[in-house]
Amino acid sequence: MSFAVGVIGMGRMAQALVRPLVESGALRGSDLIAVVGHERSVARLKPELPSEITVISSGDPRVPQAWETPVQLLAVKPQQLDQVAESAGNTPLSEPPLLISVLAGVTLERLQSTFPGRVCVRAVPNTPCLVAEGLCGLAWGRDVSPEQKAWVRGIFEPVSEVLELPESQLDAFLALTSSGPAYVALIAEALADGAVAAGLPRDQAHRLAQRTLAGTAALLDRQSLHPAQLKDMVASPGGTTIAALRVLEKAGLRSALIEAVMAATERGRALR
Ligand SMILES: NC(=O)c1ccc[n+]([C@@H]2O[C@H](COP(=O)([O-])OP(=O)(O)OC[C@H]3O[C@@H](n4cnc5c(N)ncnc54)[C@H](OP(=O)(O)O)[C@@H]3O)[C@@H](O)[C@H]2O)c1
Repeated sequence: MSFAVGVIGMGRMAQALVRPLVESGALRGSDLIAVVGHERSVARLKPELPSEITVISSGDPRVPQAWETPVQLLAVKPQQLDQVAESAGNTPLSEPPLLISVLAGVTLERLQSTFPGRVCVRAVPNTPCLVAEGLCGLAWGRDVSPEQKAWVRGIFEPVSEVLELPESQLDAFLALTSSGPAYVALIAEALADGAVAAGLPRDQAHRLAQRTLAGTAALLDRQSLHPAQLKDMVASPGGTTIAALRVLEKAGLRSALIEAVMAATERGRALR
């Protein structure tokens, strides 16, 4: 039996991408073969995934079938890349397969040298893809056809806004969008702590902090506001907000966030 799509690594990110495609009918589950690391993961995943998807472990003799598909989604951890590459083999194929990697920090150059004979694409999705609110940056390798580009966009568009970027910008993209949810989570937690300090119950403080962040993001987005405009709308003369903003400026919040994005960018570059 031959498959149309091979998924190498069916963890959280691959599931977030594949599930909506199968559930919407854009991809038939029976056209998909997924490889995971361990037999116990096969047993855990089978009842969770659409039943027509073939799920096998890395020790299964059918692994080469996943590498013979015209489209391959690589979604293992970056440290598993070399081990996985060994299983890819050098099966000669009539058409070079399309390999889409979501591995953080693994460059197109490394992908192309690790998987010769494949057309490679690097994708940087972020965690909000898990709830179809993501962002995804795409950098094309050599010789990707317009049809293949359309195919790749179709994989990420159900769960994210998709941007095509030069690979040189992906470190900054990742430092903002992939690490960003951690910065925002820290802010949400600290805001809730402040509200608890001011007397609100813990559960309520968390819910209110989260809703304040979500509502603010929606307002910025839907009214296409510059952040400074929104800040000025909220801060009335001599009021409570400007008193708080004064404290945040003195504490260096703005500078801390700028430096955080720079630090993540530089770390991403150093890890290559
Ligand atoms: N999760 C995110 O929000 C996110 C965001 C952006 C980018 N990414 C990128 O996405 C990739 C996957 O992340 P994840 O969070 O989905 O990781 P994960 O949940 O740990 O999934 C990794 C998958 O790889 C499988 N695997 C391990 N060894 C394998 C092998 N030899 N052959 C085939 N499959 C193997 C694992 O199976 P077992 O469980 O059986 O070991 C598991 O299904 C990473 O490279 C990460 O940089 C993730």
